[in-house]
Amino acid sequence: MKILLPTALLSLVLTATTSNIDLVNPIIGNTGPEPNYAGGMIPSVAPPFGMTRWVAQTHQNYVSRIPYNYSDSDVIHGFIGTHQPAIWMGESGMIGVVPGLSSSADGEVKARFEERGLRRRNGSETFGVSLYEVELETDDDDDGGGGSIGVAMTATSRVGHLRFTFKTDSAWHPYVLLQSSRPSELFHSTPTASHFNISYPEGWTRVFPEQNRICGYNSEMQDWVIAPISIAQNVENKPKDGGGHGGFKGWFCAAFDRAFDGYGVTQGAEQRDRALEGLGEEIGAYARFEYPSDQEELVVDVRVAVSFISMEQALVNLDNEVPDGTPLEATEQKTRAAWEEKLNLVEVEGGKLEDRRVLMTGVFHALQYPYEQHEHGKYYSAYDDEVHNGESYSGYSIWDTYRAEWGFLLLFAPERIPGMIQSMLQDYKEGGWLPMWKNIVETNIMIATHADSLITEAILKGFESGFDVDLAWEAVWKDATVPPERDWEVRYEDREEGVDYEVRAGLSSSYADPRKGWVDDDVHSESVSRTLDYAYDDHALSLLSVHLNKSPSVTSFLHERSMKAPWLVWNSDATSVDDYVNGEDKVRFQGMTQGFVQGRNVDGSWADPASGFTEGDKWAYSFDVVHDIPGLIEKRGGKEAFVQSLDEYYDGGWDWFGNEPAHHVPYLYALAGRPDLTQYRVRETARANYNDTPQGLSGNEDCGQMSAWYIFAALGFYPVNPVSKEFVIGSPFFDKLTLHLPSLEADASSPFYDAQRGAYTLTVEKCGDPEAIYVKSVAVNGVGVDLYGGSPIIRWEDVYHGGHVVFEMSTTPVYGVSGDAAGIVHEEL
Ligand SMILES: *[C@@H]1O[C@H](CO)[C@@H](O)[C@H](O)[C@H]1NC(C)=O
Ligand SMILES: *[C@@H]1O[C@H](CO)[C@@H](O)[C@H](O)[C@H]1NC(C)=O
Ligand SMILES: *[C@@H]1O[C@H](CO)[C@@H](O)[C@H](O)[C@H]1NC(C)=O
Repeated sequence: MKILLPTALLSLVLTATTSNIDLVNPIIGNTGPEPNYAGGMIPSVAPPFGMTRWVAQTHQNYVSRIPYNYSDSDVIHGFIGTHQPAIWMGESGMIGVVPGLSSSADGEVKARFEERGLRRRNGSETFGVSLYEVELETDDDDDGGGGSIGVAMTATSRVGHLRFTFKTDSAWHPYVLLQSSRPSELFHSTPTASHFNISYPEGWTRVFPEQNRICGYNSEMQDWVIAPISIAQNVENKPKDGGGHGGFKGWFCAAFDRAFDGYGVTQGAEQRDRALEGLGEEIGAYARFEYPSDQEELVVDVRVAVSFISMEQALVNLDNEVPDGTPLEATEQKTRAAWEEKLNLVEVEGGKLEDRRVLMTGVFHALQYPYEQHEHGKYYSAYDDEVHNGESYSGYSIWDTYRAEWGFLLLFAPERIPGMIQSMLQDYKEGGWLPMWKNIVETNIMIATHADSLITEAILKGFESGFDVDLAWEAVWKDATVPPERDWEVRYEDREEGVDYEVRAGLSSSYADPRKGWVDDDVHSESVSRTLDYAYDDHALSLLSVHLNKSPSVTSFLHERSMKAPWLVWNSDATSVDDYVNGEDKVRFQGMTQGFVQGRNVDGSWADPASGFTEGDKWAYSFDVVHDIPGLIEKRGGKEAFVQSLDEYYDGGWDWFGNEPAHHVPYLYALAGRPDLTQYRVRETARANYNDTPQGLSGNEDCGQMSAWYIFAALGFYPVNPVSKEFVIGSPFFDKLTLHLPSLEADASSPFYDAQRGAYTLTVEKCGDPEAIYVKSVAVNGVGVDLYGGSPIIRWEDVYHGGHVVFEMSTTPVYGVSGDAAGIVHEEL
């Protein structure tokens, strides 16, 4: 008799108990050797696209400093509802919830960040997508108090739900403090220096003892300092009902499940017991609770509803999302179910456990942005300081996310796309322009008007209703043709203050003179990056123009600009020889790569080769003409020379993958006839830049772009040119990946339509050695792809309504990985 049965049973048990949600590791990408090399992700709880993310606080957060850092503190200073969307962005309207113990019924309440920290009990912390738990110790010498506080925290989009389990004795008096406002560090940057300047945003609080509630607001909005001045002027000229910047306020209402035994208000280090209201800097309010002398613990449940609209709206949000009497378990279950619905769109088989965890965490990260800014049919707009009806989203890091994150959302969250586009159009109506980097208000962070790409990609991929297409064209046409204010005077440096919407800075200088077409390096910052990015946006709009039947002259105007501009900043004489300080490298790579992008001045002369780039250098940007790869290959002297230049890019140490211009580069080999080298570099890149630890992202997550790269890489194809409706084939990571792609249209006649799920099934499978990284052949729905004959492409139409892709793997490369830069020997992967 064979003994197969137990093994079969075991695997059944394993599949039943390991769900995708358990593969998510929320601490991946939290930290790194420095903020630039860290994902900057926090182990927060909220549903997909949730408005407010709840997290334990180890640090005061501001630009470049996240609220929770796994590697440098075991002290927790409370819990916050944060709206900081990325590590390089500022916080807005955060709310703090801080438990503690006083030594008497009217004893001290520790409100200030430095004083209120409690040590987390070693090993007590657990991170989940919908539940965070920790045990805090209150028996430290300096705290005096005896015992511990257990914390459980979950959240819906606009309500944090926390439960504190105080374990002490009746000599101690538990309290929970709600922090309205705090000292806030504002990041200021000038071309020569940058510094932090402390500011004191206004907070307000009101205790409602008879209703067991504490409400208030926080007017903090750190990135207001870089909002376009037209918005600032518009908003600040309006009458306001108290302090802050314009009218922006993060309102909150905390509803407790039990009567207060006392209460009061704090301001800085001052404490006013029995006070009901406070207004000003560093404001907090607290509720005290009686510790039952006959019991071992006191459990306090608090639901903290948040709103950008008003206190009343916070209560509406509370009633809609976590009504009175809802146990924390039910709130947690609701958020868990929302994540399960999305995470279960993916089925992953084979591969390493670590890689499956990186993949599912990637899906978890990529579905957090942009986040909801609407509140049950209404939203507050910081562009005009008014409340409007409709859906709104914030956290648009478009310079990063147009590359792959948006393409991922089109597949995984199509139901959100019309609302997300309509939200951008509302920003246009209320502020005058489409967003670039919207952090509740526009921030002018990064460059170009890649909303043009987002809108084009969505429309070309079939999203043409649920938003105003005519208005969308009006808005992108403005991007392409209207320069920013004072375009000849302002350099539009990154984070430049006191300037208006940056949009296509340099547009007047680049396109006013028909002999030109580049952004002048002596007039504008980041001139080469801008020239190339604007060319790509023009390319996107030329496709949209065709699709929307605009006049042929409009199309050719855009097309010609897009094809001409990149080569105006191409210096065919530039080489890499002087890039190496190490003599050995200089000899090794001597003269290998000829031709680089380079900035140009008003008078047409070349600028310093190091000038004119953002998040990259001449190396990465010389590969950044995704809409004209054949042109690029020709400029580098043909396919062989182009491949050599890619080898030098990698082997010479020029790849900085943590920055987005590097993301599509490994796929360029395939477009130059060397898919084997794409296969190798994609695997090498994944291994070097992603892992299942807090250091698991080598660069800032940038609102999902780092994770979206990984997801596409794992699938085996990547959107090199996002508006092309084509993906370039790489090397799939897992034995089998099945995606259940939701869609706005049901097609019951499609063989891939799964009526029960209301989704299309896309299967990507490997055959041959599953450990092998090289690809021998690819078949899409039974038809072979001409991978080695020059067309390593999978089309959008092949996958978005399901499909079946089979990769035949090989342990050896089809062409052999030899022949790359200066004979460098590569590690086995
Ligand atoms: C977290 O703290 C560590 C140790 O102090 C530091 O090296 C790292 O840069 C911090 N990470 C972030 C994202 O700030
Ligand atoms: C905490 O626990 C881990 C093992 O879980 C141990 O390695 C570490 O030394 C402990 N730290 C302290 C401060 O006790
Ligand atoms: C810091 O901010 C205050 C106002 O909050 C301002 O008066 C002061 O000039 C700023 N200092 C610097 C160095 O920016």
